[in-house]
Amino acid sequence: MKRREFLLGSSAAAGAIGVGGFGLASAAPELVIQSASFTLRDQVTTGMVSLSSDAPPPVLRGRQGEAMRLPVRNSTLDYTAMHWHGLRIPNAMDGVPYLTQMPIGPNELFDYEFTPPDAGTYWYHPHCMTMEQMAYGLTGVMVISEAEDPGFDSEQVINLRDFRLDDEDQFLPAYTQRGAARAGTFGNLQTANWLDTPVYDHVSGGLVRLRVVNTDTTRIYRLHLAGGKTRIIAWDGHPVDVELPLPSAEDPLLVGPGQRVDFAVAMPSGKGQMVDLVAKLPGQPHRPMARLRAVGADVARDLQELKPLPPNPVARPDLTKAELHEFVFGWTPEGGEPNNGFCGSLGYNFWSINRTPWAGDAAEGGGPLAVLEMGKSYVLRLRNESPNLHPIHLHGLVFTPLKSNLRKLPPLLTDTMLLLKDEVVEIALVADNPGDWAFHCHVIEHQKTGLTGYIRVV
Ligand code: C2O
Ligand code: CU
Ligand code: CU
Repeated sequence: MKRREFLLGSSAAAGAIGVGGFGLASAAPELVIQSASFTLRDQVTTGMVSLSSDAPPPVLRGRQGEAMRLPVRNSTLDYTAMHWHGLRIPNAMDGVPYLTQMPIGPNELFDYEFTPPDAGTYWYHPHCMTMEQMAYGLTGVMVISEAEDPGFDSEQVINLRDFRLDDEDQFLPAYTQRGAARAGTFGNLQTANWLDTPVYDHVSGGLVRLRVVNTDTTRIYRLHLAGGKTRIIAWDGHPVDVELPLPSAEDPLLVGPGQRVDFAVAMPSGKGQMVDLVAKLPGQPHRPMARLRAVGADVARDLQELKPLPPNPVARPDLTKAELHEFVFGWTPEGGEPNNGFCGSLGYNFWSINRTPWAGDAAEGGGPLAVLEMGKSYVLRLRNESPNLHPIHLHGLVFTPLKSNLRKLPPLLTDTMLLLKDEVVEIALVADNPGDWAFHCHVIEHQKTGLTGYIRVV
């Protein structure tokens, strides 16, 4: 049977392939990074990387304020390190090779232990051999639930990502030099949870929490929902406390690599009716990436029944006292090869922050881009002087976009700012988590060819 004809059964199975409860510190099973095979299209694709031999990386679940233990074992022949994107956890658990830990060698284990301070939709991916391991599959969703149940009937997690396959459904090279120097190299097969337009059943008239995560290495997804009543309730993990316009076919929502959006969806009342997560891909008609199908007797819930999600405990910056730091993202005149030690290199630099390309994960003597003082407020001015878009991601801290030279920005809390062509954005934050925090573009080819640095909080 072809994947595109394959309908998944119950909603319980759907968002939760291989899910384990990792809340109990004592009973945490090992997460084993290993090679995998999966039928992404028509034939079995081999040489994938996942946490099991024949399935996508599972949704990992934790609870706000509760300790988690995630023992990561490396059973590949390459080095690795696991990063928990968006979580404000201690620096030593952040998973950045040479900056916060040594790379995890073949057969080695690293015990990640932390207590997530924030609820919301997060994700995980390697930060060493990043290009290869992510492109070949190792990008998973992490759900941190609120201390109190917000009252949905069901949940649906959608992990959007592309794969770059040849005619035999085997991997093409994950990047090209041409792509790395421009917008990045795009995949040619778009998937949701590694499937081609999966259909997930949810109860008719029920309230679904739809968590959409773009874990692709390159693509900025342009999304909207069709059918059903919906509302955006969280962005990049954090509840939104402003009314955001609903994306539409004409005015879709831009979700860059690394970014997440949570929708509240009221399912249609009629059996078999669909709510589609629709993407606009260049040169193609709109296409559903995943479909929610109404099943069973109508429970007739209403979006109005949902209380707003409780805010996460993020400190708000004091703009009257905030010091300004400037960052320029652009090309680099120098084309040297970064020294990434055991963590893989694309072989050249094209990109830079403040005109300096990242010397490499393992390079000695590269200082921080900025040193921030614990507890103080800062404004960071991010200037994109290139024609390409860059999802700029900061580890360990959460920030608020203040203003842009091109558009009105809602005051959301986020860890990843998508910079448009020639855009200058100011963001504000409180430096309240000590350590060296990676700061880079989440188009992995840009990250790996110079558009990386780190910010130190002392
Ligand atoms: Cu999601 Cu440094 O990355
Ligand atoms: Cu991150
Ligand atoms: Cu970039």
